[in-house]
Amino acid sequence: MRMAHLITNCSFSASPAVKAPTRSTSYCCNFVQLQNSKPSNLFNKSCSMKQRKSYVIRASAAVQGQTQTPLTGSQEASAHSSSKPKKVMVIGGDGYCGWATALHLSNKGYEVAIVDNLVRRLYDHQLGLDSLTPITSIQNRVRRWKALTGKTIQLYVGDICDFEFLSEAFKSFEPDAAVHFGEQRSAPYSMIDRSRAVYTQHNNVIGTLNVLFAIKEYSEECHLVKLGTMGEYGTPNIDIEEGFITITHNGRTDTLPYPKQASSFYHLSKVHDSHNIAFTCKAWGIRATDLNQGVVYGLKTDETAMHEELSNRFDYDAVFGTALNRFCVQAAVGHPLTVYGKGGQVCEIIHLKFVLCNLFIIKLAIANPAKPGEFRVFNQFTEQFSVNELAKLVTAAGAKLGLDVQTKSVPNPRVEAEEHYYNAKHTKLIELGLVPHLLSGLAT
Ligand SMILES: NC(=O)c1ccc[n+]([C@@H]2O[C@H](COP(=O)([O-])OP(=O)(O)OC[C@H]3O[C@@H](n4cnc5c(N)ncnc54)[C@H](O)[C@@H]3O)[C@@H](O)[C@H]2O)c1
Repeated sequence: MRMAHLITNCSFSASPAVKAPTRSTSYCCNFVQLQNSKPSNLFNKSCSMKQRKSYVIRASAAVQGQTQTPLTGSQEASAHSSSKPKKVMVIGGDGYCGWATALHLSNKGYEVAIVDNLVRRLYDHQLGLDSLTPITSIQNRVRRWKALTGKTIQLYVGDICDFEFLSEAFKSFEPDAAVHFGEQRSAPYSMIDRSRAVYTQHNNVIGTLNVLFAIKEYSEECHLVKLGTMGEYGTPNIDIEEGFITITHNGRTDTLPYPKQASSFYHLSKVHDSHNIAFTCKAWGIRATDLNQGVVYGLKTDETAMHEELSNRFDYDAVFGTALNRFCVQAAVGHPLTVYGKGGQVCEIIHLKFVLCNLFIIKLAIANPAKPGEFRVFNQFTEQFSVNELAKLVTAAGAKLGLDVQTKSVPNPRVEAEEHYYNAKHTKLIELGLVPHLLSGLAT
């Protein structure tokens, strides 16, 4: 029911099977039904929705009296290197990383379409969770963006596991690049029970497979930028390379995919994605970049800070919140920081603003795409900390604010090594020009 509410929670007119006509009213959107979308098991169970619809929404009208903000420097060059702006499809564009990315690209002059089935909002609803920061509906978000900047973000509301829906989105938008954030992204969520494990793998693996088929069938030049995770590698007792490792075995040498030892059904879904992407690069000549991303932190970007209706989500719960977010909220409310077990578990982190927005989309997805048939793997993070070290950073930051932050160890709900060797390479993004924004620098 939540989904039905979200979809109808805007004052658009619905007209079945009609292409969106262009309207010239200020930030007024057209609301068009493409076709019925087959419901996933999750929706069947939780919402009793016999049939779920997919929609395309276009805030297609130019706002009168408003002009596009001029671009500067290399970003302008990349946005307008051909006669028309590059088109970037942001799959999962209503989520934490995707929303900030969609706004930033739109601001820099790219033509942006968000594809999202809004299921992230449904998980919150199911589990009784919420973002600490209020977030408005995606329809209000794109309308507000249009009102503030005059820039259009097209909106395709539907499930990428529904190939008919995805095909329509690809045929209609014709992306030059597809940045794929659209997955169930919580390891704890995938470990709650069988149905959520099955849902996570179905949603993530089939969704990505559909994106690969859509590129092959409708946009074969389209560069896929796929979000993976550093968690695909696990915690081997040797250095982690960026995607590949050269091995000499019985006198013969080859460069092979780095072994993956995922530690949850969610992380395993990313491993399966990586294999499917690598295979289709080889078999069909797809061009793809797999970003093994570290944990992302940070709330505001230049664009999300422009208006409260553009605000991003901030998750601090035990299912979707990261350790850093949880610690910050615990410190603020005077609760001891809850470190799982010994706290020696290492995680890699990266700031939302400095990498997702400024670097990788511009430099990878647009200006420097993988070649046809190339499967590129980047480890995308800037720093690595143990959980204990994160707790110390938050304690120090709290002290600067006059907070007396305490830490306590709680039984670890996860099956994981609590102390281990960890050294992951991340040189390729630095080579592309990343100037890291360091959390360690902030806390000193
Ligand atoms: N946030 C992090 O710290 C982090 C770290 C490493 C990797 N990643 C990866 O980055 C990506 C984005 O992460 P996030 O934190 O923004 O997640 P998020 O949950 O906030 O956003 C994901 C979005 O995808 C949408 N989505 C999910 N399944 C879909 C489907 N079948 N069809 C259409 N839309 C669908 C959701 O509704 C949501 O809006 C994920 O793939 C995640 O695994 C995130």
